Amino acid sequence: MWPGRGRFTVRRGSSPGKDFVMQAQKESRLFLQKLLQNPPMLPFDPKLLPLLFAVTQEGSNASVKTVVALIEQSPRLATRVLAVANSAAYGLEFKVSTLQRAINIMGLREVRLLVLMVGMSSFIREAQLPKAFDTNKFWNHLLSVANISRALANVFGGTAGACGPDASPDERLVMVPDEAYIAGLLHDVGKLFLAATRPDIWEKIVEMEQAEDMGMFEAEHAEWGMDHALIGAAVLHHWKLPLVLTEPINLHHSPELATSFKMEARLLAVANCLARYSHDTPATLGDDVLEYLPHGCDPETVSAAVFQSIANAQRAGFAELNA
Ligand SMILES: [Fe+2]
Repeated sequence: MWPGRGRFTVRRGSSPGKDFVMQAQKESRLFLQKLLQNPPMLPFDPKLLPLLFAVTQEGSNASVKTVVALIEQSPRLATRVLAVANSAAYGLEFKVSTLQRAINIMGLREVRLLVLMVGMSSFIREAQLPKAFDTNKFWNHLLSVANISRALANVFGGTAGACGPDASPDERLVMVPDEAYIAGLLHDVGKLFLAATRPDIWEKIVEMEQAEDMGMFEAEHAEWGMDHALIGAAVLHHWKLPLVLTEPINLHHSPELATSFKMEARLLAVANCLARYSHDTPATLGDDVLEYLPHGCDPETVSAAVFQSIANAQRAGFAELNA
């Protein structure tokens, strides 16, 4: 079971009835329990995920052969890796027909990312999502947060960064830029799981969000005391993804509650806010971002790095989206 902090704080109106609160809490707890007993389907065995993360992490000396052996366990995944290696993105003049060659061309880090993208896009394609769930908007938000997170990891955790190697252990960023990208890509996956498994609750939450002009996180707590951050983190934890990803994902709307991976949770919270900014010019950071910016971080440097990362991603046409 997910060890993360539960935040069952149903708030509906000024004084919700005790029975309503208890019923809502019971329902959301039961939902999570059932979801973990019967987790979302992936086009490959979820056991592959922690193994793949272990062999492709920074500093790993696993061979390409090891990674090939893992991917070969899923014919669907193997086909997809070959297809992407042969896609226009790599501009090759020859055809790649073996996984070993494909991985050599793409690189281990890209393969890890690709496996997650294949898993998510397959889930979205096959899930019965409510009509109002805007998949394009959802993907674009994930990709923006992923790009911004990677840029922030470079700023926060670089040698001169406020959370760099010289920072105190409590304020040091452990997450490397590639992990930050993945955390950004997965941070809202709980919204997807909720919409696919309990469209009725998702619709009520969206209705409340619009009627009360509140954020989804607040509407979720008002409706049934559980939020998408916890749902996503719980499933990812169930799939044994590393805590450096699941902890910040769990707290990306409330990084002040973090007791571990504190800077990572702040990074994701800042990236999530910044993704909603306009990126026509380097932005002036608002209180929402300044509140969570690590101590000693220069807002102008952050703004310039984020602007640059989004401009680069837009120039590349968010290539990952079409991978
Ligand atoms: Fe979120």
